[in-house]
Amino acid sequence: METTWSDIAGWYDDLIRAGSGPHETAVGCLQGLLPPEVAGQVVVDVGCGQGLATRTVAAAGAARVVGVDSSAEMVALARGHAAPPSVEYVVDDAQTLASLEPGSFDGATCQLALMDIPDLDATLGALCRVLRPGGWFVFVIGHPCFLVPDARPTNDRDGLPALTVRGYFDERFWRSSNPQGVRRAGNHHRTLATYLNSLVRAGLAVEEVAEPMATGRLGAERPLYREVPMFFAARTRHKP
Ligand SMILES: C[S@@+](CC[C@H](N)C(=O)[O-])C[C@H]1O[C@@H](n2cnc3c(N)ncnc32)[C@H](O)[C@@H]1O
Repeated sequence: METTWSDIAGWYDDLIRAGSGPHETAVGCLQGLLPPEVAGQVVVDVGCGQGLATRTVAAAGAARVVGVDSSAEMVALARGHAAPPSVEYVVDDAQTLASLEPGSFDGATCQLALMDIPDLDATLGALCRVLRPGGWFVFVIGHPCFLVPDARPTNDRDGLPALTVRGYFDERFWRSSNPQGVRRAGNHHRTLATYLNSLVRAGLAVEEVAEPMATGRLGAERPLYREVPMFFAARTRHKP
């Protein structure tokens, strides 16, 4: 049996509760891209997992945040975290968001989940259906140029960490063989062009992008990500 997100939900929650450098960097990046108008708005957090980004959007002042995940196990764990009454969770598929009303959200977030969802066009289409015209969408993904299935960490001649990347154009579903790795649940490698063209097709215009350099816990534990970015992130706006 292949590992699913539901299988590793408890492990993933423990990882974040213990303090995870990648997640701290990702959520800091997401926070930095939220638009000022988020305070008082209604937001959907897609692929919410145990609710790390959902709670962050609530802390930014959103009036209501709905976390959506297809894994009932993840949603149960998310509900176990302390959160204000503005936070709620539903089990639903990001590719359809069938339980959400059209045009009912001012904004949307998706942290570290677009790579895990098979149909990118369907997901962005569903998001745009539930966003009001002019609504915003902030996402963070594993950097498509560096978190490539065949990328191998190396040491450069000067001793600094480096990365050899090949197979960038080979878009495919893959699983990490690391038994303690997040990506053992599998994810879809896509080129940066594929992500950007899918945003264009959905009518999402890019407003700001970020490629955070690792600092803090991530920088100390994974110095490679002080040399190349682990994440790519953007704030986009729905312009139908
Ligand atoms: C790497 S986790 C990220 C969770 C959270 N956003 C975070 O930053 O910690 C990816 C999440 O995407 C969810 N997911 C995968 N496919 C999905 C789908 N089709 N619809 C909704 N959620 C999905 C998984 O269940 C998992 O919780």
